[in-house]
Amino acid sequence: MPSLVVIGAQWGDEGKGKLVDYLTSGADWVARFQGGNNAGHTLVVDGIKTKLQLVPSGILREQTRCVIGAGVVVDPTVLLAEMGSLRGAGLTLSPERLTIDRDAHLILPYHVAIDLAREAKAGKNKIGTTGRGIGPAYEDRAARCGVRFADLFALPELKERLTDLLKQKNDYLTKVLGGEPVDFALVWSAVETAARELRPYTGNVSLLLDGALKSGAKVVFEGAQGTLLDQTHGTVPFVTSSHTVAGAATTGCGVGAKYLDHVLGVAKAYCTRVGSGPFPTIMEESVAHQVREKGAEYGTVTGRPRACGWFDAVAMRRAVRLNGIDSVAITKLDVLSGFDKIKVCVKYVLDGREIDDVPSLASEVDRIKPHYIEFDGWQSDFAGVKKWHHLPAEVRFYLTTVGEIIGAPVTIASVGAERESTIFSSGASFVRNFVQIPEEA
Ligand code: IMP
Repeated sequence: MPSLVVIGAQWGDEGKGKLVDYLTSGADWVARFQGGNNAGHTLVVDGIKTKLQLVPSGILREQTRCVIGAGVVVDPTVLLAEMGSLRGAGLTLSPERLTIDRDAHLILPYHVAIDLAREAKAGKNKIGTTGRGIGPAYEDRAARCGVRFADLFALPELKERLTDLLKQKNDYLTKVLGGEPVDFALVWSAVETAARELRPYTGNVSLLLDGALKSGAKVVFEGAQGTLLDQTHGTVPFVTSSHTVAGAATTGCGVGAKYLDHVLGVAKAYCTRVGSGPFPTIMEESVAHQVREKGAEYGTVTGRPRACGWFDAVAMRRAVRLNGIDSVAITKLDVLSGFDKIKVCVKYVLDGREIDDVPSLASEVDRIKPHYIEFDGWQSDFAGVKKWHHLPAEVRFYLTTVGEIIGAPVTIASVGAERESTIFSSGASFVRNFVQIPEEA
């Protein structure tokens, strides 16, 4: 102990990777617990960009051990490519530094084919998935016919099972979805390569983390996507297929709930969404355009432009509740520099009635009329700002007030992509102790 769970409090892309990378300066372990290569974390260290999809963000710190928990779905081809490019950048990637849980499921070519064919068939009703096979892989896990890393140690049995399974998948692909069948040789080649290259990295993450936590090691559980994309609690059906909330760290890594000490929610000073789905606080396009360009709001995985909206405190209150958020980091404050007024949605009105939570039906979310309050904007370029009390008064007022509205204190402000542009308030005592940052002068 202690452990810190870092989750996205909006629809993903909140800047978690940067925060996790910063926080790992105090961590012994970093664990991914859900999602797959639908995630894309961009880290900037000394001006050099590193993009990660599956490898936990802690990999940039030589002393940190990284684990991929059983709750993650892993496309082995993507993981191997990512490991290769990290090695190319001079990082050490050995089984001592990276372990994948034996119970994590593999994404195989038929998952990707089904994801793409389904979206194509859905036309205008598509979810707008990343097309990486995430949903179909989680479906197989629930249907108890998925392929796990443990299966890579029993290839003859797996081959027999996969032969039957692929027949069913191809029937579904061709007869129901109108797609092309997937060749067994393609699937088997991915499996054989995974077995050859990744067996040494396969282990028992639950056992490793349990031992680490009991011996007092510091662990960061790194969430992917965001709360409003949670498979059950998000804005269904426009969600991902895993649980993105903090509690998923326990099931996704096989650790007990008592080990989750602090939940840090990460949110942008505005909102973005990629893919389909209603978005109550969407900005008018002239404003959204400025935010998108300044904030580089294009999907890390797919390059799609993200829809941009004002900060949604109603949705954020839901995130605070669903995750049990202890403290909040607000990122990308620099992107809003130069606006005269900054809007925050504090209330939803649906069909003339005030409601205090995000409705369950997408058609209702679509009809929401957001009610805003306005804050004075800030003009700062933030260069060189390292201390909370050096932040412009408007920014500090905005952060404190937002914290009061959402019911969780904002204790971290991020004002740029670099590690150093992360500023802690005096209220960030858990996180400060975790990272061992001295109290503010
Ligand atoms: P899937 O996770 O690829 O099935 O996509 C389902 C929905 O989640 C789509 O709207 C995606 O755009 C969204 N999504 C998945 N991963 C991310 C992410 O890392 N950031 C933002 N949106 C995501």
